[in-house]
Amino acid sequence: MLISPSMLSADFSRLADELNRVEKGGADWLHIDVMDGHFVPNISFGMPVIRCIRPVCGLFFDVHIMISQPQKYIADLKKCGADLVTFHLEAEGDPAETIRMIHAEGMKAGISVKPGTPAEQLKPYLDAVELVLVMTVEPGFGGQSFMEDMMPKLRWLRENCRPGTVLQVDGGINRKTIATAAAAGADCFVAGSAVFGKEDYAAEIDALRQLAAAAAR
Ligand code: DX5
Ligand code: ZN
Repeated sequence: MLISPSMLSADFSRLADELNRVEKGGADWLHIDVMDGHFVPNISFGMPVIRCIRPVCGLFFDVHIMISQPQKYIADLKKCGADLVTFHLEAEGDPAETIRMIHAEGMKAGISVKPGTPAEQLKPYLDAVELVLVMTVEPGFGGQSFMEDMMPKLRWLRENCRPGTVLQVDGGINRKTIATAAAAGADCFVAGSAVFGKEDYAAEIDALRQLAAAAAR
C-alpha cells in the first residue's frame, strides 16, 4: 500500500517545510501534478518548481502530467528529478511512443484515464507500463468528491494488468473513501486535501495506509 500525498494541496509559501513534514510523516511517494491550462482548465506549476524541490525532498517523485503534449516535456522532467511520469491516454501523441520515451530517459511510466474514458482503452498499453492511474475526479483541481462509479475500472484493471503493476487512484481519497478503492484493487493512493493542511501529517498518512490495508482483497 503506497500513499502519495499530492503537493497541489500544500502551502506553497513554505513548500520545503511541507514536503519535509510528509516525508517525515511516512509518505511513500510525492505526487506532483503538472497542469498546462489546456488539457485541464487549470495551471499548477512546472519544471522550475520540481527542480527546486528535488534537493530538499528524498521521496520518490510521482509526476502526473495533465498536459496536451506530453512527449515535448519528458526529457525536461527527467532533468528536474522525476522518477515516474504518468501521462494521460487522452493526450496527444501515440501512447506507445510516449511510454518508450519515458523509459528511454530511465524513468518509470504510468498511464492514466479521465473518468469518461473506459479502462478497456488502456488494454494495448498495459504490458508496457509500471503504473496505471484511474482518476476518481475530473482532473484539474484538488478537493473534489470521490467518484465511486469508477470502481469497476479498478476491478477490470486488477484483472487485466500484469502482476506487480501499481494501480493508483487520484481524487477525493480520504479516510471515508480509501477502503472502497482498496477493495476494488487499488494499491497506491494519491491524497491531497486529506493530508496537507491537517494537524498531524504522520497520523493522516498512517490512518490512510491502515484503512487501505484492512480493506484490500
Ligand atoms: C487533480 C489532481 C489530484 C489532486 C487530488 O487533478 O490530479 O492529484 O491533487 O486532490 P484531492 O486528494 O484533494 O482530491
Ligand atoms: Zn494527480
